[in-house]
Amino acid sequence: MTQDIYDKVMTLAKRRGYIYPSFEIYGGVAGFYSYGPLGTLLKHNIEDLWRKIYVLQENCIEIDTPTITPYDVLKASGHVDEFTDLTVNCSKCKKSYKIEDIIDKNITVKDAIKNDEIRCPTCGSRLQDIHPVNLMFSTIIGSGNGRQAFLRPETAQGIFTDFHLLYRHVREKIPFGVIQIGRGYRNEISPRQGVIRLREFSMAEAEIFFDPLDKNHPKFDNVKDKKLYIFDNKKEMHISLEEALEKKIIRNQALAYYMYITQEFLLTIGIDPKRFRFRKHAPDELAHYATECWDAEVFSKRFGWIECVGIADRSAYDINAHIQASGTDMHALRKLGEAKTVEVKRIIPKMDTLGPLFKEKAGRIKKILENMEPLLDTNKITVELDGKTIEIPENCYEVVKKKEKITGEKFIPHVIEPSYGIDRIFYCILEHNYVETKKKGEKYHVLRLSPLIAPIKTGVFPLTNDEKLVRIAREVDQKLRKNGIVTYYDDNGSIGRRYARMDEIGTPFCITIDHNTTIDNTVTIRDRDTTRQERKKIEKLPGFFKKHCLIV
Ligand code: ATP
Ligand code: GLY
Repeated sequence: MTQDIYDKVMTLAKRRGYIYPSFEIYGGVAGFYSYGPLGTLLKHNIEDLWRKIYVLQENCIEIDTPTITPYDVLKASGHVDEFTDLTVNCSKCKKSYKIEDIIDKNITVKDAIKNDEIRCPTCGSRLQDIHPVNLMFSTIIGSGNGRQAFLRPETAQGIFTDFHLLYRHVREKIPFGVIQIGRGYRNEISPRQGVIRLREFSMAEAEIFFDPLDKNHPKFDNVKDKKLYIFDNKKEMHISLEEALEKKIIRNQALAYYMYITQEFLLTIGIDPKRFRFRKHAPDELAHYATECWDAEVFSKRFGWIECVGIADRSAYDINAHIQASGTDMHALRKLGEAKTVEVKRIIPKMDTLGPLFKEKAGRIKKILENMEPLLDTNKITVELDGKTIEIPENCYEVVKKKEKITGEKFIPHVIEPSYGIDRIFYCILEHNYVETKKKGEKYHVLRLSPLIAPIKTGVFPLTNDEKLVRIAREVDQKLRKNGIVTYYDDNGSIGRRYARMDEIGTPFCITIDHNTTIDNTVTIRDRDTTRQERKKIEKLPGFFKKHCLIV
């Protein structure tokens, strides 16, 4: 049977230690893959480069929050009710399908039902009872009557729930960005797309907080003439950020700016620009929290266009939801030119009546009441808690008039979120950089990985097993490792075979130590893509590799 590109890439990935199907000795589990030794290095390099862009270049701060998340958080964020896929089970062959996977992409579910098109792809039976299925893995914190929780479906909520602390950390300046790299979990209905649809995967997310009155980006002018590859669901365009904004294709500078950062990142690490585009979500495609969303899509010969990054305007949705549900003041302050004194009405909760009436909810209700905006109409007070509207009786609070000095106006920040799926990016890089040729009549594989992310930066080979050459080669190897360059020492087989082993795993350079080395301290460096060789002094090697392979 002929293998397609996915099979070829995965065969190489497994053989050379990039990706292994997890738990294979027990038959494997769909949606779970492990990274082997080279895969782990490559993944770390992708994440490290991403981190450098967002933390060093874009000045974001990084945090690390738990992956197990209490029910209350994900109820407030809308995931308990909304994070679902429309699903259908076949009563005959017992398989489950996500509706999206089995209907023609150009029609809606409603039309498919009307036209009687929803049929089991396996046995052809008519499928009925389409229902939403929540994608979160649930768990219990503690034993017995422990607290219900979920494995997080996105890292973002860990950032939102700490917003007030992070805002203070940056000394209350907006805009500011927070990133998190970590695992996300989704109990995908029927993951039939190998490494593309996982049930446990790595996300790199940035939440950039903006004043809703000013979604301009401070660095926009530096990039306004750069061009984006855009697909507006009708035609492909290659247009500047400025033009995309002028034509209202993209709604604000902040979104456009992070689209550009995303494009730069993906193209730098080896995504082919001809197989890259941003696609705008249609209104019925938007996630429950998004007002506008662009997917950075990458083309795969096996899977078609794959969403690798989602860049969403989440507006005030999440922070507002957590203010409502937890009662915590998570507003930001828009500073006024001059402080002014205003008369406000404040609510003073009375705990002696509030406590017995609302029991374990009383503490949270008290916080919400205390933080309520100055009231216009105090006849009826309600609070939103756990998705319910609760009316607070008049004997539970007092309303006082106060003069307060204000230095700013409170607002709920808006969030622009680039959310990267590292595993999909990882696979697409392998697919786009996999080259199959022939050498001396035999199949020859090269992975043209960018030196910036290649797991091993150079092979180090003594030309022969001559003791002197071996000693120098070992020294060169150690010297480079001490300089943070990952090497692979190899003195086994012909030089051609050694080059081939390195080409196949994507090593961009190979150093050979030969007899001239013993005379003038020079080695040859071979470039994987041109196969050209040049001689270099040993003392220049760390500088050479730092220049080509490390991002500082
Ligand atoms: P899809 O439509 O493919 O299910 P999504 O719209 O649910 O993806 P997002 O919720 O936007 O994806 O998640 C952000 C990123 O996380 C995606 O761009 C993708 O790269 C990655 N991602 C999402 N689901 C998975 C998954 N099951 N396996 C691997 N990566 C995923
Ligand atoms: N945080 C974006 C998403 O999960 O879709």
